[in-house]
Amino acid sequence: MARWTAADVPDQTGRIAVVTGASAGLGLETARVLAARGAMVVLACRDTAKGATAIGGARVVELDLASLGSVREAAEIIRSTCPRLDLLINNAGVMNVPFQRTEDGFELTFGTNHLGHFALTGLLLTHLLRTAGSRVVTVTSNAHRRGRLDLDPEQEYKPGTAYDRSKLANLFFAYELQRRLDAAGATTASLAAHPGNARTDLWRTSSRLERVLIGRALRPVNFWLAQDAHQGALPQLRAAADLSARGGECYGPDGWFQYVGSPGRVRTSPSSYDREAAKRLWTLSEQLTEVSYPVTA
Ligand SMILES: NC(=O)c1ccc[n+]([C@@H]2O[C@H](COP(=O)([O-])OP(=O)(O)OC[C@H]3O[C@@H](n4cnc5c(N)ncnc54)[C@H](OP(=O)(O)O)[C@@H]3O)[C@@H](O)[C@H]2O)c1
Repeated sequence: MARWTAADVPDQTGRIAVVTGASAGLGLETARVLAARGAMVVLACRDTAKGATAIGGARVVELDLASLGSVREAAEIIRSTCPRLDLLINNAGVMNVPFQRTEDGFELTFGTNHLGHFALTGLLLTHLLRTAGSRVVTVTSNAHRRGRLDLDPEQEYKPGTAYDRSKLANLFFAYELQRRLDAAGATTASLAAHPGNARTDLWRTSSRLERVLIGRALRPVNFWLAQDAHQGALPQLRAAADLSARGGECYGPDGWFQYVGSPGRVRTSPSSYDREAAKRLWTLSEQLTEVSYPVTA
């Protein structure tokens, strides 16, 4: 079968897409492709100046996922300025950061990668539900396979463990949202995607060895382990735009261990499909963010 590429993204004219973390890496690539295919793209960035220079002419909305106040303000601006919302790409993320708290007191990785996106999606859901065929794409990682939600992130904090946990939470969220949308009979779909290993600034806080191993300099030998940002963005673009993609699916690279390759439908870890765990996380997330969804279990 032919490899799916950015050229397969259908015409997006008349559609509106919000991409979080669109100032760099995979978010920027995703926003570029959607804009090139005619979408009106809203770059939801914590650094609006960086976002404004990223894609000339694109609309930029300030969004700091580590602040629920900022998430509420961003959602309000999007609701009042966008007449429709076809795509919400929950892409922004942090990895391997020292212990820190969000403005609201949550561990930073979980707060940014999961809770911030949970709140943003909930606050935009009415808008998404009104737009027929809209999609929410939440970006996870192969790291979810190591994730455990029963570990308290504040006890013996480990940056890698916190990241794994947040990426499992992304999947619980994406799949549980789809179950709720199904129950509501909504045409909005929730999908997940992951890039494999992509050369972006996300790795800046990783060990020197890891950075060298996936780095550009070793491309002739690490082609099986890491890919560039454009290729890494294709699974989330496919989840967002491929007309044959369905709610509840996850897209990732089709190569060895899903590290690199052409974007296709992939299976995630058996525990990521645990419905009870996903429900528990949902209830906790509603309590912590004080955002409740207009769709129920
Ligand atoms: N690269 C990989 O190999 C890889 C592998 C698996 C999964 N992923 C996932 O892919 C997604 C994108 O990562 P990337 O590789 O493109 O990393 P990146 O180049 O570091 O970009 C991350 C983006 O997230 C934004 N961001 C960070 N904290 C934020 C906050 N509090 N509020 C709003 N935006 C925030 C960053 O904004 P600034 O520009 O202001 O820093 C940046 O735009 C993440 O969810 C990551 O977990 C990446």
